[in-house]
Amino acid sequence: MEYLFEFKIEYYKQYGVLMPQIYIDDKRCEAKLNQTIIEVAYQNGIIIPHFCWHPELSVSGNCRMCLVEVGTPKRLADGSFEKDDNGKLKINYFPKLQIACATQISDGMHVRTLSKPVIEAQEAVMEFLLINHPLDCPICDEAGQCKLQEYAFKYSEGESRFVETKNHKDKRQSWGPNVLFDAERCISCSRCIRFAKEIAKQDVLTFVNRGDHVTIQLFEGKLFDSPYSMNVIDICPVGALTSKDFRFKSRVWDMSFNDSICPGCSRGCNIKIGIRNNEILRIDPASNPYVNKHWLCDWGRLNIYPNINEHRVTEPMIKNESTLNAVSWQEAISFAASNLRKFKPSEIMFIGSAFCTNEDNYLLSNFVKKIVKSNNLDFIEHTDDSFEDDLLRTKDKTPNSNGAIEFGITNNMEVKTSDLVAKIKSKQIKVLYILDYDISKISGLENELNHLEFIIVHAQNHSRLTQIANVVFAASSFAESEGTCINVNKRVQHFDAALTTVENQRYMGMKMSRLDKFGSHNDRWTQHELRRCKQNWAIIQMLANQFNANWTYKSSSDVFDEIANLLPDFKGMNYKLLDYYQGLTLGRADRPDEKVLNYVSHYLRPE
Ligand code: SF4
Ligand code: SF4
Ligand code: FES
Repeated sequence: MEYLFEFKIEYYKQYGVLMPQIYIDDKRCEAKLNQTIIEVAYQNGIIIPHFCWHPELSVSGNCRMCLVEVGTPKRLADGSFEKDDNGKLKINYFPKLQIACATQISDGMHVRTLSKPVIEAQEAVMEFLLINHPLDCPICDEAGQCKLQEYAFKYSEGESRFVETKNHKDKRQSWGPNVLFDAERCISCSRCIRFAKEIAKQDVLTFVNRGDHVTIQLFEGKLFDSPYSMNVIDICPVGALTSKDFRFKSRVWDMSFNDSICPGCSRGCNIKIGIRNNEILRIDPASNPYVNKHWLCDWGRLNIYPNINEHRVTEPMIKNESTLNAVSWQEAISFAASNLRKFKPSEIMFIGSAFCTNEDNYLLSNFVKKIVKSNNLDFIEHTDDSFEDDLLRTKDKTPNSNGAIEFGITNNMEVKTSDLVAKIKSKQIKVLYILDYDISKISGLENELNHLEFIIVHAQNHSRLTQIANVVFAASSFAESEGTCINVNKRVQHFDAALTTVENQRYMGMKMSRLDKFGSHNDRWTQHELRRCKQNWAIIQMLANQFNANWTYKSSSDVFDEIANLLPDFKGMNYKLLDYYQGLTLGRADRPDEKVLNYVSHYLRPE
């Protein structure tokens, strides 16, 4: 009766049936009804090699890499289980191997993934796949993170019996604005075809021809130009699909990939920032089942990082006469503080930012309300209805409106352009203090800024606003900062710095790739640019201390711990917990979402 498995009370309560259990390589694994063998194996930490299966796509079962032996306990005529001489149940294995991705489990099933027939099948599939695969690895972008390479080491014999000429197919076919297809690298797993149809909802790809002439084509007159097209590059298990933006920029083993959050809209997709030589070369998705699953939009991937690499304000500056000059941080802060003191609090307008972290906005709010003793504090919303869709993109094109609102940075004095313009014109507002946004882009306001008596700006990039500002604080971008944001679903997510600055240099040392690691403040031969910028909360703290605030936060985590102690919605949260659960919903730190094992397609990629 050992195969009438333990009673799982939780499962029973939820589904009204006993929880099925199966044995994979003699390891007892808990399963859910209707799961396939590969799903149960994955959730139990057992890797069954596969190319075409992907947890978010339909099952196609065409690569045959996941073949396993499957059996069930033998029963006697009376329905009881047959046992061997040692009292162990006899297992009836099916005569042929089964594909683990399409075979549903049944209670008591036995699966062998390491037996001789399975290994022989894996070697045969690998030999078959490699017959026509070009010897492209030295020039292929996927090399170093390629599932086929990884499996060639792990599951193939290492020798080919193929002496005929390889089949050549077209290389460098453009599928759309962002994706290139190399037909001879393709192993016909159909992941891209299924992604286009099922996730991107742009059914434009199909297999054509047969046998070793099979290839993928776009439907006549169509392009694969979905806003999510670049996800096929990530899920393609080989280098058949490459990014037009990234092609040949770097070998992946020269890069480091650090987890972060996309600031492109309020979805807050989880990303990996790919860096070499302290410069961002590409953005990849990081899986989060509760936010973006495995996907990113192309816009977020391509449009944010160039502004972090280029046109940066790299050091604090103040305006003497009519020119901005680089100064020390202390000089810039003292200059800003002494000028702020010249005005009444009601004459200064503070503008927080939905592009900045909770920590930044929280300290700005404290500075304005408790130290300057003003309520002139607001932030600017950036919405675009046309950006929103029903997959990931939201109309709020900032990552942290919810955070700004949470810290009271709204509606105290609405930054409606006309309202602000009127107040500047009537000299009611004489000073603007702006947290990281180029307000000069707002039409109607651009001409009014010249009428202000003093402008202080935290800026990441040079802009018209930095040209007319009196003080420019060089602000770290999100890629150089640590902090938290609250996404559209009120999920608080933590992200860490990926790029090195003078401020975080020592701390970042261990996270960098081999081309970054050896650079230091004194030894800059490997470094692209080491910026003298600071995180916004740290700048605000320096300024507040000029007004005798005596703040002593040493890190953004200190600021967040204070937020968690003071505000009920954040109660129980800390960076460690946020990382562990990949985010926690506001007010629900004690009830996190179920922790599920994230699917990782393959492991060779450097972290
Ligand atoms: S291009 Fe890549 S994802 Fe598409 S079928 Fe070929 S190997 Fe699979
Ligand atoms: S959907 Fe929004 S958060 Fe996600 S990648 Fe696109 S812009 Fe970034
Ligand atoms: S993963 Fe099962 S057949 Fe491809």
